Amino acid sequence: MLISRTANRTWTALIVMLAVAAAVACGPGRTDKPSATAAGQPAASAAPAVDVSLAPVPPMGFNTWNKFGCNVDEKLIRETADAMVETGMLDAGYRYLVIDDCWQVERAADGRIVADPERFPSGMKALADYVHGKGLLFGVYSDIGPQTCAGRPGAAGHFDLDAASYAEWGVDYIKVDWCHCDDLHAPTEYARFRDALRASGRPIVLSICEWGRNDPWTWARGVGQLWRTTADIGDNWDSVVWIIGANSRHADAAGPGGWNDPDMLEVGNGGMTYDEYKTHFSLWAVMAAPLMAGNDLRAMTDETRSILLNKEVIAVDQDPLGAQGRVVIERGYGGQVWMKPLADGSKAVAFVNYSGGDLNLYVRWSQIGLPAGPARIRDLWAHEDKGVHTDTGKHYNERYEVKVPSHGTVLVRISPVTP
Ligand code: GLA
Repeated sequence: MLISRTANRTWTALIVMLAVAAAVACGPGRTDKPSATAAGQPAASAAPAVDVSLAPVPPMGFNTWNKFGCNVDEKLIRETADAMVETGMLDAGYRYLVIDDCWQVERAADGRIVADPERFPSGMKALADYVHGKGLLFGVYSDIGPQTCAGRPGAAGHFDLDAASYAEWGVDYIKVDWCHCDDLHAPTEYARFRDALRASGRPIVLSICEWGRNDPWTWARGVGQLWRTTADIGDNWDSVVWIIGANSRHADAAGPGGWNDPDMLEVGNGGMTYDEYKTHFSLWAVMAAPLMAGNDLRAMTDETRSILLNKEVIAVDQDPLGAQGRVVIERGYGGQVWMKPLADGSKAVAFVNYSGGDLNLYVRWSQIGLPAGPARIRDLWAHEDKGVHTDTGKHYNERYEVKVPSHGTVLVRISPVTP
């Protein structure tokens, strides 16, 4: 991947900073938050560097759970792989095709995990080969405990054997859940799972799914590449609003190599309006969230495609600086303005309207960390240049203002113009 030298330097700084934080947080029995001062100190030379190479930017792909639940089989996976290529999803960056819960049914006499022979008669290796043949990467799901959330066999007692099976099959991504784990210590268990994956010899993304129960933002960097911060998403507006609020609190933890995961996308599943889905997708991008589509990719409406395949919004999510955006303006009447700094010095700015009617929202450059002067505006949903606006820092009326529909989001990129 092509990355700028500035981004490279930022990554190196982050790796060093976060290696210190991870070393603090992952000590035996420690779940306390790394302090701000610890992150600001020079790295101890003994601290192991966090490997950012598995997820330098938030992972993108598709996961079966939100749309299909336990109704998964190899036909669905093959057809979805085909659709990911044909619809342009792969070209847009969606690379991982992940089968969530219910692909597994039992353990064989030798302890190996067994895929459902009726639903996956060709076996997981053949399926992984098919997925790889399409240029995609392949993922599955397990659980730290003895059973998954849907009651299938979990990984407890079999981390090494399972990791070896995944490596044999060609698995590139494993989501690991936390059902039936109440008495266990999450940082220790997930670190053991990571070590089993490492020992398998195959680079495999570890998606930590303990729903934010054990403050993963304090210890998961260096253990997994993404960690859920909340309970499960639902295909409705209240769920999305609640998750945005909860996930926004952990912005410090996100960056190249490790990402807050506010759960998979519901775009295209039918429970929200077009504007609501655009807000859902915009905020996931501004929060540098993993973008795992959760709809039926074989049957997408034009509206759904226009959201999931909006490359200008995806570029905000995938920006190599890897900063998670934050709220910079809070309006009491249901409006928020978010800003995510981007590697080229520009800012992604989202104007979000949670209220029941239209809202006018605005920013001044000082509120988004830009110097006074001219800046070019690009509207990422309208795909329109909005011209150059100048905020001299002196006059109140020099601001960029937009009208936002109820539950909608206007997302722009604001780039300073150097004279
Ligand atoms: C949990 C996870 C979901 C999904 C289901 C599968 O609820 O949070 O994302 O994986 O289990 O059973």
